Amino acid sequence: MCGILGCISNEDIVPMLLNGIKRLEYRGYDSWGLAVVEDKIKLIKNVGNINEECLNRLELKGSTGIAHTRWATHGGVTRENAHPHTSCGEEIAIVHNGIIENFQEIKRSLLAEGHKFMSQTDSEVIAHLLEKYYNKFKDIKKAILATVKRIKGNFAFLAIFQKDSDMIVGARKDSPLVIGIGKNKIFLASDVLSFIEHTDKVIFLDNLEVVIAKKDLLKIFDFKGKEVQKSVTQVAWEAYDVSKKEFSHYTLKEIYEQTNTLKSSLCQDQIKLNEFCNSIKSAKKLFITASGTSFHAGLLAKYLFSKISKVYCEAVLASEFNQIIEWVDKDTIILAISQSGETADVLDAVKKAKEKGAKILSIVNVVGSNLDRESHLTLYLNCGPEIGVAATKSFTSQLALIYFLAFTMINEYIGINKLKRLNECIDLIFKQKDKIVEIAEKYKNSNDFYFIGRSIHYPIALEGALKLKELSYIHAEGMAAGELKHGTLALIDIGTPVVVLNPKDQTYCDTLSNALEMKARGAKIIGISNLNNDVYDDLILLPEIDELFYPVIEVIPLQMLAYYLAINRGADVDKPRNLAKSVTVK
Ligand code: AGP
Repeated sequence: MCGILGCISNEDIVPMLLNGIKRLEYRGYDSWGLAVVEDKIKLIKNVGNINEECLNRLELKGSTGIAHTRWATHGGVTRENAHPHTSCGEEIAIVHNGIIENFQEIKRSLLAEGHKFMSQTDSEVIAHLLEKYYNKFKDIKKAILATVKRIKGNFAFLAIFQKDSDMIVGARKDSPLVIGIGKNKIFLASDVLSFIEHTDKVIFLDNLEVVIAKKDLLKIFDFKGKEVQKSVTQVAWEAYDVSKKEFSHYTLKEIYEQTNTLKSSLCQDQIKLNEFCNSIKSAKKLFITASGTSFHAGLLAKYLFSKISKVYCEAVLASEFNQIIEWVDKDTIILAISQSGETADVLDAVKKAKEKGAKILSIVNVVGSNLDRESHLTLYLNCGPEIGVAATKSFTSQLALIYFLAFTMINEYIGINKLKRLNECIDLIFKQKDKIVEIAEKYKNSNDFYFIGRSIHYPIALEGALKLKELSYIHAEGMAAGELKHGTLALIDIGTPVVVLNPKDQTYCDTLSNALEMKARGAKIIGISNLNNDVYDDLILLPEIDELFYPVIEVIPLQMLAYYLAINRGADVDKPRNLAKSVTVK
């Protein structure tokens, strides 16, 4: 996934572009670039994080420009492959987010026509196609419509033209593109975040739409060329607060925000909530689908819907959804869970289910995202932008909303007292920071970690392992505690750290036996429990809460442990290597 941003104004837009794509680095951060058009197109691109110094040296200035932050898919991380890409005569520059699936075939035919390519990317074909069709039709609209007709895959792209220095054109198919309408400024971007300090007035482009933007004109067309009228939405500024505050990393800030975000995730429109619950309750078949951390929330939803609401469902990884598609029909409800609402596997699953007549319910953080727009009904997490690549606050917000749904289905409500207690518990865990830092120091040289839990603690064991892997790069495995004896026990050696999720509930004794089995084989046991026991070499004490709610609080020490282990090992916490915040490729 990549981030794109364009701006037209009366003033120099380079600082705005630079700040804007910095905000989009959560979408990719292995290289970046920007281009402005005055009498000619001038561009700069670089490998690595966005670097202001470099720009200052170049003294790039302009009032129309486009910018890009990249997460490489086609072509390595090199300056040549960084965007913007230009046409042969460098009279057109483009930035692109997505994948052009048929780029090889297009590239072959353009090469045969004499076009010269400078990169290994799929994106560069867009610049050459625009050049080809602009030369043919001498008309921007015709050129862009011919281009989108020719390319397959998913894309949002922006282009500037030397011949028209106050114009940006764009198009989207299955990748987001939003327009910001500011005072004497127009923005086109992957995400509102990139321009929110300049305007809160936004037009969400729909799928299969193109835009031609000039200082004093904004036209939107569908892919057939028919003009479309769009309404302007005013978005809430607070929902896009992206300051790091006093924290050293966004990830840490987002971990500490969780007492507030839990509260906001429960602020739901009652009518929508009831409709959501009624759909789930009356579903003949219910499938939950999601990826990564959101899948772990989905797995817990499966347990909670069954335990609390007596609703049976299956949780299916979005990337595996195709394997059960034959069971999906018009009597099926799909509950899709995603922070970004842009995960390609989730969108693919949802589209296929929709084709079979299923109703799509979704739980999403990013309003206006593709999943939001594809769904019949969406509930929002309301947890604000999550910048750290590792999901933290969005996970607990997903959990809170899932509990809310499960109880609403049986006409019980998570009242203010329950929420207050959850927040008190989380605060008590934050107070154990020194203990968690000490554990992180003790195990910083371990090569393998195991996380175990039964029943509703199993999804949290999976989540603890995922957090540790992505933040600290330590190998970790999360598993159902009962599965240990079926193989994994062979890997337990002297000093192997095992995190045991074991608050006092009906799983307590069995999980304790598993901890003892591992201890007998030399493992170091890190207990996450409200009860101390000699088996634990280290204990993070869970405050007392109704036992069904332990998952929401027990994930907090796991997030903190992963964070401090990552810090001890010098990892780039907010931007783990090789990972993008939203995975928009299959
Ligand atoms: C979580 O820490 C990861 N960054 C990743 O597994 C993520 O949860 C997954 O890619 C799904 O993203 P989504 O919630 O935006 O769909």
